[in-house]
Amino acid sequence: MTIELTTPVSPDALDPRVAVDPARLLDRVERFARIGRNAHGGIDREGFGDADVEARAELVREAHRAGLDVWGDAAGNVLIRRPAAADRAGRRVVLLGSHLDTVSNGGRLDGAYGVMAALEVVQAVAEADADPSHEPVAVAFANEEGARFPQPFWGSKALTGQLDDLPGEPEDNDGVPLRGQLARAGGDLDALDSAAWPPGSISAYLELHVEQGPVLEQAGDRIGVVSGITGRTVLTVDVVGRAGHAGTTPMELRSDPLTAASRIVLAVEDLARGSRLCRVATVGRLQVRPSTPNTIPQGVQLTVDLRDGDPVRLELAEDAVRNAMSVIAGERGVELTVAVDTRSQPARMDEALKQAVADSATELGHPWQVLPSGAGHDAQIVSGVAPVGMIFVPSIGGVSHVPEEDTADADLVAGAEVLLRTALRL
Ligand code: GLV
Ligand code: MN
Ligand code: MN
Repeated sequence: MTIELTTPVSPDALDPRVAVDPARLLDRVERFARIGRNAHGGIDREGFGDADVEARAELVREAHRAGLDVWGDAAGNVLIRRPAAADRAGRRVVLLGSHLDTVSNGGRLDGAYGVMAALEVVQAVAEADADPSHEPVAVAFANEEGARFPQPFWGSKALTGQLDDLPGEPEDNDGVPLRGQLARAGGDLDALDSAAWPPGSISAYLELHVEQGPVLEQAGDRIGVVSGITGRTVLTVDVVGRAGHAGTTPMELRSDPLTAASRIVLAVEDLARGSRLCRVATVGRLQVRPSTPNTIPQGVQLTVDLRDGDPVRLELAEDAVRNAMSVIAGERGVELTVAVDTRSQPARMDEALKQAVADSATELGHPWQVLPSGAGHDAQIVSGVAPVGMIFVPSIGGVSHVPEEDTADADLVAGAEVLLRTALRL
């Protein structure tokens, strides 16, 4: 798959009427940050939870207020385009977007910024009644993070026809079925296939995102031209032992799943820190049942998140951690079940789109550099069916997935301008 570029930029890109409205963009970013904001200033907008459903409804209202067409699909994705876009049938589509859901206690920009910028591009093109060669369509992909329902990249997998290997009735970590929550978001579990776009219908996908790391800030660069996206494997591991009285059960008669899980946590860290089988390895969730000071736990559930840019290394790391866990379970006399939540492949960004992002940044006078993404993005899923490009802007302090996640306003505006210019030069 290749994408042709109009270089230098098309007349519309040079047309000053097609422009990002900085105040409108920043106002929207701020307003959406209020949806799901908790007492600590973080955002609790887990995919298909109440705040996420509210955010998606607000996006629909916002697109209507902007005079745009908006529709939802069976997977819960929200799509926005110019009202007259149907008259331009046959025009190739450049899809622009990201996600509205967050991790628990996440930041306001991871995902939502890219959706607001995509909306801004569609609106700017509509207001100028411009005539780009590719019709921009904005998308808010459903459940990118998988924070509550452990199917990350849900919406992008559905839209690209890659939502296979689903459990019969997907559930969240508390056993709440996805079916009802998806219906509240306007989706339909029984009609997921209808969310898939026909092969070839996306000419290019562009995603603007905060970097979530320190590289751009430390280098003093304003724009990141993403070279590729890390691969990722996420496992949910259940360790089951034997509950008992903390005061009366002799140490040698215990089958304690928490001490076994503790060894697993260290074995996961060692994969990346000691044996360096993969780039990073994390246990981010550990739930102890029951969680009581004077009872030996019955069971522990934990997640293992492995990342590397090389799919072979990722596989080897998964094999190694599975072996290590079996050995620990044997030694500790506990039962182990391992479920794969996701395996996302590393992805390379399209060369022509990288060039287009770099040229747009140069023309707008922004210092830029090429860098890889250590975080996962819907873009890596879309890369299975279309050429994909990603644009990063600096993250203050390099932090993300925390309430402190932030980016300077000027950088947020610059990123949206680069997105617009890149979309117009296809
Ligand atoms: C997605 O946000 C990820 O965990 O990389
Ligand atoms: Mn994220
Ligand atoms: Mn994200």
